[in-house]
Amino acid sequence: MAYMHAIIWLLLSQFLVLCSKIGAKVPALIVFGDSSVDAGNNNQIPTIARSNFEPYGRDFPGGKPTGRFSNGKIPTDFISEAFGLKPIVPAYLDPAYNISDFATGVTFASAGSGYDKETSNVLSVIALSKELEYYKEYQTRLRGYLGEAKANEIISESLHIMGLGTNDFLENYYAFNSRRQSQFTVPQYEDFLIGIAGNFIKELYGLGARKISLGGLPPMGCLPLERAENMMGGGECSERYNSVASEFNVKLNKLTVEMRKELPGIKLVFSNPYDIFLHIIRKPSLYGIQVTSVACCATGIFEMGYACNRNNLLTCTNADEYVFWDAFHPTQKTSSIISSYLVKTALAQFL
Ligand SMILES: *[C@@H]1O[C@H](CO)[C@@H](O)[C@H](O)[C@H]1NC(C)=O
Repeated sequence: MAYMHAIIWLLLSQFLVLCSKIGAKVPALIVFGDSSVDAGNNNQIPTIARSNFEPYGRDFPGGKPTGRFSNGKIPTDFISEAFGLKPIVPAYLDPAYNISDFATGVTFASAGSGYDKETSNVLSVIALSKELEYYKEYQTRLRGYLGEAKANEIISESLHIMGLGTNDFLENYYAFNSRRQSQFTVPQYEDFLIGIAGNFIKELYGLGARKISLGGLPPMGCLPLERAENMMGGGECSERYNSVASEFNVKLNKLTVEMRKELPGIKLVFSNPYDIFLHIIRKPSLYGIQVTSVACCATGIFEMGYACNRNNLLTCTNADEYVFWDAFHPTQKTSSIISSYLVKTALAQFL
């Protein structure tokens, strides 16, 4: 009897595993945005916004510098894994991957990009409108690969993630001699970006997307680069930039409420990293982290991209002790904490 019992138990458990695979609600992650979610698209275009060299990627599987602005994985990699998909989301322009890989996850993101076309021009990176063109091309390739019906199902069931906005403020609006600053007040510029975000969501919806996560801004006044510039404030977080981020997040959230009313059948959520990110910075020891005000790479004050290079002897040995990897980007550890928080909150309904 014990033997029969064991067999039934084994069959049952295999059946449950099978069910959980069939029932996987999200077949792919489809990502748009900036360096927070770029996995190496910029390696394939002429720009200085690059990170495909050491010490970037030193904690990535294989120690490989992929073009992710991190010592290891970025949030979308962790989210993909949490959804039972691939442990990494590959870059659309990466020649090492093809449509069979992209069928379960792809990122069109480009470091340095933003909602505003002029933001992507600052560092000659891929504009959001171009990311959308690549997405259309992807859909055509997906239909060729899997057939119309299966491809459409993947498109409507996939989770579309938008992660951008920081550069519009820090690389564009607040940059020296900014044209945008002479055209718009801060609230006007926020509304201008919200208009672009809304149109982008409508475009995705028109292309068949139904599950969309609109990402909020981090407390961008706490990025080491912005702290270093805040000399008047003694190197503390810039309250001005943080309040712009909070204010913009309120508007993004309001946008999702409006879009849900306007677009039937859409499942649109606002994924807000702000509070958890600030909590990590304020109470790092709760997360096993020690250093919050400077980054791991080099002096930790201003270096990112080419300025964060392997020859710098100041680079920390254990990035897990730091909130920030370079002066503008979180460590893999921070990304992992924020991602698991988002998966448990805004993204939980898609699991
Ligand atoms: C994608 O690449 C893999 C391995 O490199 C190969 O086996 C597969 O046939 C390719 N698929 C397509 C659709 O090109």
